[in-house]
Amino acid sequence: MSNVLRLAIVDPNDQSRETLKTMLLGMDIVWLDAECSRYEFFADVVLQSKPDAALISLDGGPDRAIVLMDKLRSSSPDCALLAVSKSSDGQLILKTIRAGVKEFLPLPLDVEELHSALERVLQLKYGGADGKSRGCRIIAIAGATGGVGCTSIAVNIGCNLARNAENSVALVDLDLALGDADVFLDLIPDYSLVDVTENASRLDFQLLRKSLTKHSSGLYLLPRPVQLQDLELITPDGLRKVIGLLRASFSHVVLDISKSYTQVDLLALELSNEIILMVQLDLPCLRNMVRLLMSLQHLESVREKVKVVVNRVGLESGQISLKKARETIGREVFFQIPNDYRTMVEMRNNGQPLTEQAPKAAVTLAVQQLTDLLAGVQIAPKQELEKPTDRSTANNWLSFWPGKAGQKAKVK
Ligand SMILES: Nc1ncnc2c1ncn2[C@@H]1O[C@H](COP(=O)(O)OP(=O)(O)OP(=O)(O)O)[C@@H](O)[C@H]1O
Ligand SMILES: [Mg+2]
Repeated sequence: MSNVLRLAIVDPNDQSRETLKTMLLGMDIVWLDAECSRYEFFADVVLQSKPDAALISLDGGPDRAIVLMDKLRSSSPDCALLAVSKSSDGQLILKTIRAGVKEFLPLPLDVEELHSALERVLQLKYGGADGKSRGCRIIAIAGATGGVGCTSIAVNIGCNLARNAENSVALVDLDLALGDADVFLDLIPDYSLVDVTENASRLDFQLLRKSLTKHSSGLYLLPRPVQLQDLELITPDGLRKVIGLLRASFSHVVLDISKSYTQVDLLALELSNEIILMVQLDLPCLRNMVRLLMSLQHLESVREKVKVVVNRVGLESGQISLKKARETIGREVFFQIPNDYRTMVEMRNNGQPLTEQAPKAAVTLAVQQLTDLLAGVQIAPKQELEKPTDRSTANNWLSFWPGKAGQKAKVK
């Protein structure tokens, strides 16, 4: 599933190919997977890069272009064909349609027309009759203070999503200086965010996957830079490209952002569909939460997406009640995750996700339920969780729990 159409183009004329490329690169619904200047080689290019669609210019030799289309129809039947030409000759248009072309676009191209044609192809490929929505969901996990549980939750949401065969999931460690997602997953990556950022404009889909490290759950990890000296190489522009690339290739991207709220972190929030803001029920954390929410309030593209998740509910010492917390932060708590230090530390130290480390623990079930909510999967009626030890917390438990008994919750 993807919200981006992966496209390969062939046009023997360098100048018109460049014009076409410039137009396509400005469209967020297209990922230019491959380009070719020879009709003879293009069928092999398509076989290798497996794009969603092929855009063929007819003007470098209409007859050879038609032969190519016939070939593509049998060698890459899943690849949708689009044709462009200066000619408006009815016979030629008829031939391309017979050769299986879905869209014929006259040159010079009208941007709107091209965009609509690409959207129609995208709709045909991914907006199937089952009504399933296409599109990559980007989920950012942010925290109101250090050690609030962001990486623990980001890693497990990533693994939970990746276990579903319908999903393809990447986790990006944006805690650039001290990120430890690789430790949680017990992975030793070959490449980091620096490599992918530096090569973003040259990577194709196969190379991108090879640059990421695959976990046994199916999750792909893109870790933080190795050297502190490399941190400055990760710029907002670079991150935008990397996320564009991931968005075109994965159904879900999970971002474990840093607590520094740098320009890179803020861009990550801006590009996300969901923002989980993790908090614990202690005074410094709640105070930071209020400051953060006030700051994010000014960012139009961010404020609506923030969902407050309380971690370590039930931890006794120095805890503030959920009721008080809700009054303080002035908004609903989207989800609660119970306190279970032993399970969480073992999970990290053994480099095993919760579903393997402690499949039946309340904290595992809670994180699974949070994953389902974020994935838009309907959740089962109220789930039995360990009872919080804090009385005031216990009193408010149900009123904050999404999907109370008998109800079904769904995230839009
Ligand atoms: N629900 C929980 N119950 C008990 N302990 C937890 C829970 N969630 C996380 N922890 C523990 O809290 C500690 C910090 O967790 P984690 O590293 O995930 O937080 P973080 O926000 O990513 O930290 P940092 O700011 O350093 O990136 C770890 O020891 C982890 O095991
Ligand atoms: Mg962390």
